[in-house]
Amino acid sequence: MDPTVTLSGPAACGTEPAPPCTLVIFGAAGDLTKRLLMPALYNLAGAGLLADGFKILGVDHNDNTDEGLRQDLTATMESFTKDASSEFHADHIDPKAWGFVRDRIGFLKGDFEDPAAYAALKGRVGGSVVFYLAVAARFFGPIVEHLGQAGLLEQQDGVFRRVVIEKPFGSDLASARALNARILAQADESQFYRIDHFLGKETVQSIMALRFANGMLEPVWRREYVDHVQITAAETIGVEERGAFYEPTGALRDMVPNHLFQLLCMVAMEAPNSFDAEAVRGEKAKLAEAVRPIEPGDAVRGQYTAGREEGLDVVGYRDEPHVSGESHTETYVALKLGIENWRWAGVPFYLRTGKRMTERLTEIAIHFKPPPFHLFRETAVTELAPNVMRLLIDPEQGSSTILNVKRPGPQMQLGSVATAFRYADFFQEKPNVGYETLLYDCMVGDATLFQRADNIEAGWAAVDPLLKAWVDAPVAFYAAGTDGPKEAEDLLARDGRRWLPLDGGSR
Ligand code: BG6
Repeated sequence: MDPTVTLSGPAACGTEPAPPCTLVIFGAAGDLTKRLLMPALYNLAGAGLLADGFKILGVDHNDNTDEGLRQDLTATMESFTKDASSEFHADHIDPKAWGFVRDRIGFLKGDFEDPAAYAALKGRVGGSVVFYLAVAARFFGPIVEHLGQAGLLEQQDGVFRRVVIEKPFGSDLASARALNARILAQADESQFYRIDHFLGKETVQSIMALRFANGMLEPVWRREYVDHVQITAAETIGVEERGAFYEPTGALRDMVPNHLFQLLCMVAMEAPNSFDAEAVRGEKAKLAEAVRPIEPGDAVRGQYTAGREEGLDVVGYRDEPHVSGESHTETYVALKLGIENWRWAGVPFYLRTGKRMTERLTEIAIHFKPPPFHLFRETAVTELAPNVMRLLIDPEQGSSTILNVKRPGPQMQLGSVATAFRYADFFQEKPNVGYETLLYDCMVGDATLFQRADNIEAGWAAVDPLLKAWVDAPVAFYAAGTDGPKEAEDLLARDGRRWLPLDGGSR
């Protein structure tokens, strides 16, 4: 570790074990449980953050037993040691940490829509419970209703009952409102933990520290100094096996009101009065409410055609499994957003996300206004390149800032240089899947990183006009392995701007 770095403060998710509770996982046989929840619990156990009285009860409609589920999940944990491409990859599985989790796993067979399953569930749990809905979105409402009707959401005598809900939370503003109303009829808002996994990413959480812990950044983070902001979430993967989900969903619903809005909120919200969950979520809500509803003319929708990705030929979206040959679903979105508040009035925020793009890159780039040019009038300098600060979130984690410096030599000539840091050069990170903090926070009752009903609805409200306008709208095509459709370039070109290349500053 670099000697100039001092580490202080508590570890990412506290130092004390979370209070004892049962984690009931609906969808125990599913992908999310295997790929993310179990590795996260294993890491929490390894860090001593789970109480002795912690238990897991997997619920699913297939046949299994306590021991059967233990064996299945042990097999997937072992498989991660051989698969370097999995979200969680470790050289070996520590028998002590995994044993702690494994021994606490139980199984309950049940149909999510059958009241009998909840009667049986009631017989298996007591004390504090976190119900984790790792299931398809159509089950969110019914499961919460059944839990409520069975009395499983009642909190008494210091016992907590919480429900974690995955995305997608609704498919537009009306359905999100309806789902909020449906679940809030069964329990209090404070019992619901709506997950957005982007908030589990350490680098997303660190945006607040970067902005508010640095005196040289905070004062310039505003319209007087910022020309515009670009937020990018580019992926190289295609739609994979998720065609059936993706066809009615598309990139706008899949990524914008949730993940990209979280990045937007982190980078643009006002400083909360404290790190208290309500203070942070209140500032996010204010920011999201200030986002002007997006006009169709400020948005581009694209779809990938066949092309080459990482040296291989890949098929176009319409030839992916479970996708219509005439699909008009977008796999790429670019947007221009305006924020109508005092800090950001007049500063455009450009957002883009897409599948099958040139590189995988999630970043936020703050483009600063250039200083006055007159000093350089009589030199060889023809323009001042803007300072750009790139907050790199994925796959590289760190930041890179473009500055103008004098080139060595007798004349005044400028060169642009990048001053950069990578988290990995300063901090040692253990392999983690980003769900560790989220699960721990839910068990300790810290809702800061979860979305409140109003946060969710504000995200949908901003994109709702586009969802309506895009029902039968055509898509612009881009070849797989490129930076997106030409129309997205035009969106910025008409404002005299350009997207940054998808290289995180390395090109
Ligand atoms: C999910 C979307 O929520 O986020 C996926 O449904 C997308 O389509 C994924 O690939 C991106 O997340 P990450 O963490 O891989 O950047």
